Amino acid sequence: MQIHYVLSYSAIKLKLITISFSVILPKLLKMEITIIVAMASNRIIGKDGMMPWHIPEDLRLFKKTTMGYPMIMGRKTFESLPGLLPGRRHIVLSRNKDYQPRGGEYAPDMTSALQLCGQVEKAFLIGGADIFEQGFSVATSIILTLLEREVEGDVTLPNFSDDEFKEESRRHYPDGSEPFTVVTYRRSVTNICI
Ligand SMILES: NC(=O)c1ccc[n+]([C@@H]2O[C@H](COP(=O)([O-])OP(=O)(O)OC[C@H]3O[C@@H](n4cnc5c(N)ncnc54)[C@H](OP(=O)(O)O)[C@@H]3O)[C@@H](O)[C@H]2O)c1
Repeated sequence: MQIHYVLSYSAIKLKLITISFSVILPKLLKMEITIIVAMASNRIIGKDGMMPWHIPEDLRLFKKTTMGYPMIMGRKTFESLPGLLPGRRHIVLSRNKDYQPRGGEYAPDMTSALQLCGQVEKAFLIGGADIFEQGFSVATSIILTLLEREVEGDVTLPNFSDDEFKEESRRHYPDGSEPFTVVTYRRSVTNICI
């Protein structure tokens, strides 16, 4: 019985620490941290190190949304880019301390990456799956492009919790090269009071 209480207490404490970290870090840094991602209807986001689709209308939205703000990404996503995306800082995470992203800035972990952003209003977490998974605990919002078809691939978007992120808006784009919907989620504050 006592062990059960100790374990429950530890689990609650861990949850509180996680929640505190996720709620406090963006506040400390005073910035909006947004995950921006496009996903097929079967949760696929990547294949063979690349994006398995090309939707110019969604890329234009990505460019418009992220322009002028720092982008944080994993080493694999950085290496998959056709080149540096103009007008935005590329902050690249790698556990290899000697890694030097050409034209980008190296960060050894997520906290350093967020600190590197400095005094900015917003920063974007642009992938891939590794970064999204870690990013769910610090993001204040998510911008999710949903394709209407299944796609073959080898990288999926990890699940995020409906309790943590509430849908804020949804817009359908029916007229481009293929239809898609952009859903925006905002971190819910209700889960702080447990
Ligand atoms: N559909 C979309 O919106 C979208 C967006 C972006 C990417 N993608 C796709 O996703 C795929 C890549 O995703 P991925 O998950 O395989 O790789 P990734 O997240 O881009 O990069 C993973 C790498 O980042 C580094 N890393 C991750 N967490 C770290 C941490 N806490 N501290 C230090 N370094 C860390 C490690 O680099 P080292 O190995 O160097 O240590 C790790 O191997 C590609 O297919 C890409 O095209 C899709």
